[in-house]
Amino acid sequence: MKIVSIVGARPQFVKLAPIDNQLREEGHEHVIVHTGQHYDPGMSDVFFNGLGIQPPDRHLAVGSDTHGRQTGRMLTGLDEVLESLTPDWVMVYGDTNSTIAGALSATKMHIRVAHLEAGLRSFNRRMPEELNRVATDHLSDLCLAPTSTAMTHLATEGLSERSVMVGDVMTDVLFATRDKLQRSSVPAIARSDGDYLFVTLHRAENTEPPGRLAAILRAIHDLPNQVMLSAHPRLTHTAQQLGLNLAAPNTTIVEPLPYESLVNAVTNASGVITDSGGLQKESFLLGVPCTTVRDETEWVETLQGGWNVLVKNLDMLGECVNRPTPAPITSEPFGDGKSAAKVVRELQQRVS
Ligand code: UD1
Repeated sequence: MKIVSIVGARPQFVKLAPIDNQLREEGHEHVIVHTGQHYDPGMSDVFFNGLGIQPPDRHLAVGSDTHGRQTGRMLTGLDEVLESLTPDWVMVYGDTNSTIAGALSATKMHIRVAHLEAGLRSFNRRMPEELNRVATDHLSDLCLAPTSTAMTHLATEGLSERSVMVGDVMTDVLFATRDKLQRSSVPAIARSDGDYLFVTLHRAENTEPPGRLAAILRAIHDLPNQVMLSAHPRLTHTAQQLGLNLAAPNTTIVEPLPYESLVNAVTNASGVITDSGGLQKESFLLGVPCTTVRDETEWVETLQGGWNVLVKNLDMLGECVNRPTPAPITSEPFGDGKSAAKVVRELQQRVS
């Protein structure tokens, strides 16, 4: 079987790792096309190196731009690349501009498309990711859903027949990394002077509206806790433009972390504050309470037992992050850590 994976942004590299591993282990041909949406070495190369992914076979180097221009450049590049490849499947991942560009280019060329992490919905159409997800699911020939909630959303939109639940491949890579860290007893990158909250922020809805980022930073800087803020380039650029300080007496800034360091930092944190989808799940699976600075979440399973709390009113941030530790959860809403094998099986079953 010949598979072309189209990726471009940081969370996609994490999802790509277990798929690349599984495909190669089973002797399939796997071609990786990198759109170049993320290009800083810390946002891209370290994930390929750190997670043992084969280097991209093609790189489109599109870089950053408005949504339309960035997606348009991807389409131009992908048409040329896909013309020269004749895969059994194109795989697209998650909900970024690279996802929708990959799905659109491949389906227009009558190549079968599988969407990994299909069926997620925030029901907030102001989010670019929501538009990308909905459109990609409806374009795709196979919707690979991570959870039963995602399957329900796909059914509601009439996509049941092309949908299958495979679990979440991010669980595969997270559990493997967690176990590797435990075996190697890597020292915590944690601050040595005690408890800290691990924080990331990058969503357009939190960085773009006037006053929103300043209000979030004020709330974080006023916390009684020590904070380690891992700054995505979008956050760094916006803060610079607005003349806002990310650092504060309680807040230390670190660069975007390689995956293993991120897992280490979360494992050793007393809590997480984020607007990232992946990090909500990673906190949940690592048993670290998460506070999400958004009005809604696609990963509703993380809310059970209070492991994840949506903070809509920033005045409540301190109370939220310092809530009592929730009771342990025994269910496995994100699969058993063996999802990549299921994905490859589903693809193979549909290749004549
Ligand atoms: C994208 C995804 C988002 C995902 C996130 C993970 C879309 C619409 N959004 O958001 O779903 O959660 O990736 O990180 O696709 N930049 C750099 N260096 C880089 C990449 C970006 O400096 O390597 C800066 C640029 O100023 C750029 C900004 O970050 O304009 C935003 O990058 P972009 O890829 O457009 O969106 P993300 O916010 O990263």
